[in-house]
Amino acid sequence: MDKTFYISTPIYYPSGNLHIGHVYTTFMCDVIARYKRACGYDVYFLTGMDEHGQKIQDKAIESNVSPQAYVDTMATSITSLWKNLQISNTDFIRTTQPRHEKVVQEVFSYFLKNGDIYLGQYEGWYCKPCETFFTNSQLVDGKCPDCGREVSKEKEDAYFFKMSKYTSRLLDFYASHPSCVTPSSRLKEVVKNFIEPGLEDLCVSRTSFDWGIKVKENPSHVVYVWLDALLNYISALGYGSEDPKNFEKYWLNGTEKVHVLGKEITRFHLIYWPVFLMALNIPLPDKFVVHGWIIMKDGKMSKSKGNVVYPEPLIEMYGMDMLRYYLLREIPFCEDGVFTPEKFIERCNADLANNYGNLTHRSLSMMKKYFNGVIPHYMGHVNEFDEALEASLQLAKKTFFEKMDNYDVTNAIAAIFEAIDKANKYVDDTRPWALAKDESKHDELKSVMNHLANTIYTVSVLLSPFLYEGTKKALDMLAIPDNLRNYQALDKGFNNLDGLKISDEITPIYARLDASVEIDRMKEKIYTR
Ligand code: MSP
Repeated sequence: MDKTFYISTPIYYPSGNLHIGHVYTTFMCDVIARYKRACGYDVYFLTGMDEHGQKIQDKAIESNVSPQAYVDTMATSITSLWKNLQISNTDFIRTTQPRHEKVVQEVFSYFLKNGDIYLGQYEGWYCKPCETFFTNSQLVDGKCPDCGREVSKEKEDAYFFKMSKYTSRLLDFYASHPSCVTPSSRLKEVVKNFIEPGLEDLCVSRTSFDWGIKVKENPSHVVYVWLDALLNYISALGYGSEDPKNFEKYWLNGTEKVHVLGKEITRFHLIYWPVFLMALNIPLPDKFVVHGWIIMKDGKMSKSKGNVVYPEPLIEMYGMDMLRYYLLREIPFCEDGVFTPEKFIERCNADLANNYGNLTHRSLSMMKKYFNGVIPHYMGHVNEFDEALEASLQLAKKTFFEKMDNYDVTNAIAAIFEAIDKANKYVDDTRPWALAKDESKHDELKSVMNHLANTIYTVSVLLSPFLYEGTKKALDMLAIPDNLRNYQALDKGFNNLDGLKISDEITPIYARLDASVEIDRMKEKIYTR
């Protein structure tokens, strides 16, 4: 049977246009999905939108349209963003779709019937003008955090999920699956702060607004957005529907199931989601990858600070690869990282234009000049630098696969760029322009060209999930046939490309960006879309 791989992004709130933070999560999943496909997995890559809740309802009122019309417009904009960014998702789920709403209602009814959900009373601080309940910790100076007015202690009927019943099962699960969360520090935090002290029952219905999925048994209640939203991960697969074959294939019998998410939503994913799955008797995911945040020099991105960076202008100005590369390379895996226009230009110039771009351009130009564009045959280790180059490429490949198999995209790319750097040094050490002047060094020159062609070929195939425009250009210039553009072909060795004739057109893969112009241009454009 085929190996399968399921990967999901969180579903995005359409309460505003998506920014580079959301794009970061999606890029990470897209790269992993492309990598897994390249490794021969049958991949189901899910993303979508989390469309219910008070905030969305408020946004719709603000825009003077119905909530449904509001989310429909946002769905058009978000799907076209993913299309422009060439995101390779298999499916796009919206929580207002009937296929999802039906599952949420049925799951809620099931939990009610088997006693996991019960009707109780919610007690909290109520702000009448805002019609909203707050917890003690949400109050500001004892007053409503939204309008600043007095609040009063009130009770209302609400449904609760018996989280408390699952405390020890959840602890047991994590004790026996300690590596299911990356990084493990996130799991430790959640276990120590929330699970070990004992889970509290969770209020899973609301009556203060109605933009949500109605509780069938009591339609004045809508289902709590997180119970609604988390179920997207299986409703999209057809769980509980007439056609559950994807659910069976990718979830029940799936080889690997991975959720990627940002650190602020760890608790929901590491506590509520596994408990809901346990209560449904469904196997738990294999992995939660928790990434950090993209922040600005002055802290978090926020509309009020005016420092929110949108992807569209960056793509328009610099193409697809640069933003993708920058975010995945520069933001340390699982940590926060700062976005600055200066760093963006510096990183793209240093790594893409100068390192990878330059290696390709100068090597292929020499291949044309000295061998009429025909890649010389592999002859083993001819000069003193060949062996080390092969070894460094081998090591980079090994590290790349190890890191990617642990979803560490940042260090996977770093390993390859180290090898590219070494290959540039190899050119400087072997000095092919000098070898070309000396008849007796012809074999050495041939070997250098063969090694360079193989290096560019290998790094380009490996990097293709990350830099799909630039690597395609490099592979096209090398005129690599389609059947060699895959990971399996890389194992064949350095005689893989013997005698291939490269393209006549050799041009730079990436433009070098002029910092003195581009930094200002970026500052002017990236905060609007
Ligand atoms: N709707 C919920 C998720 C429900 S999943 C069942 C949600 N949506 S969100 O739109 O607010 O965030 C979605 C993802 O975008 C999260 O993984 C979040 O971490 C990520 N990012 C939003 N801003 C971010 C940054 N500034 N930096 C990196 N990622 C950030 O939460």
